[in-house]
Amino acid sequence: MSCVTVRFADGTFPPVEVPAGAELALHLDLARAPVLFGCRTGLCGTCVSVVEGDVPPPSDAEREVLDIEAPDEPGARLLCQLRPHGDLTIVRAVR
Ligand code: FES
Repeated sequence: MSCVTVRFADGTFPPVEVPAGAELALHLDLARAPVLFGCRTGLCGTCVSVVEGDVPPPSDAEREVLDIEAPDEPGARLLCQLRPHGDLTIVRAVR
């Protein structure tokens, strides 16, 4: 199984290895990473964060929430909706 590396730009938490295509939120929880989640279904916006890396574009539903929660943040994503297939960096939480 191949893994991707999730890094934290502020360097306050070590990189987390996540199986490619796996639910990011689950693996961040397992690693006890300092990321807040609420609904985990892409509705509440708690997990909105700016990310950099190889992530597929947001679904229409995710885009709707991002347009409300982070309209001026082009790199913002809902971490609970990501299943990364490439390395990514969590730059910062938006909320
Ligand atoms: S935890 Fe609610 S949108 Fe991600």
